[in-house]
Amino acid sequence: MAVYGSTPDDIARAAGILRAGGLVAFPTETVYGLGADARSARAMERLFTAKGRPADHPVIVHLARAGAVTVWAREVPAPAWALAARFWPGPLTLVLKRAPGVLDAVTGGQDTVGLRIPGHPVALALLEAFGGGLAAPSANRFGRVSPTTAGHVTTEMGSAVDAVVDGGPCAVGLESTILDLSGEIPRLLRPGAVSADALAEVIGSPVAGRAVGGTRTPGGLPSHYAPDTPVLLVAAAALDAAVRARTARNEPVAVLSIGPPAGDVQHVRWETMPADPREYGRVLYARLREIDRWACCCVLIERPPAEMAWEAVRDRLERAAGEGRVDPP
Ligand code: TXA
Ligand code: MG
Repeated sequence: MAVYGSTPDDIARAAGILRAGGLVAFPTETVYGLGADARSARAMERLFTAKGRPADHPVIVHLARAGAVTVWAREVPAPAWALAARFWPGPLTLVLKRAPGVLDAVTGGQDTVGLRIPGHPVALALLEAFGGGLAAPSANRFGRVSPTTAGHVTTEMGSAVDAVVDGGPCAVGLESTILDLSGEIPRLLRPGAVSADALAEVIGSPVAGRAVGGTRTPGGLPSHYAPDTPVLLVAAAALDAAVRARTARNEPVAVLSIGPPAGDVQHVRWETMPADPREYGRVLYARLREIDRWACCCVLIERPPAEMAWEAVRDRLERAAGEGRVDPP
């Protein structure tokens, strides 16, 4: 895998690989995406193989300009334009009714397509140079934690990818908010940096939550975004006891807490996480990747506050914990 910087030459070369049907990972403000020409069935096939992703899961098409939305969506309701004007380029994906000709590989065979303009200068330069829509799921293997540095991509994807454009660590660190505008009412499919409240304010009406057992979004599977190390979410008040229960059995345990470490921390890899939800989201995936290198029995993660500002972090932590999310005794 070639590693490129972000000079005009680098961008031109990366765009050339994409035009030839290759796979190029690139930075966005949320996480690194694995880009492929969304109009090329062959490139899409390579993309799904590289990710190990089931064919019926849709991918987001990344665009350089809001005007291109009408190329990919056959109906663009007024709220979509208002949200695009307010939040693009930025961490918001809109799901709209797909235009004729959009590949089934992009939509997962559904009648909708996910679109976003990423808020990262390198991503925008690459999209401009490429000149079309880039399908770009997070540049990780299916079900795993999204990469937030170019190094994460090279470690995880290796030779399955032709090149990665290094644009430094991602500023947001969690995947985009996904809003489905293809139905009767706007529905939040995945919380992210753009909050449900911020969306509702622009639309002028409330945004519904996720339908239980709804659309085929991988982000909608309970055990997604998971590290190899089992994750247990623990209430702040129960954290000390949970740690001691394990260290008493000589099990090396990792802890991510917002508060400071407890007094006796032998056999414990204790990481204090930022108390600000945006900062926490920015560093979370890199921390989870580090923990996988420590060979701990599990990672105990303090449950974040139940406030709206923590919604995206809470969502990813609950998915990472999957079925193991019950507080241990
Ligand atoms: O921040 C992000 O969105 C990153 C960066 C690279 O842009 N991309 C990303 O892609 O997270 P991915 O494929 O890992 O997750 C995209 C999510 C999936 O859960 C997918 O099912 C959902 O978006 N999605 C895409 N198109 C959809 C559609 N038409 N209907 C419903 N969900 C859709
Ligand atoms: Mg993903």
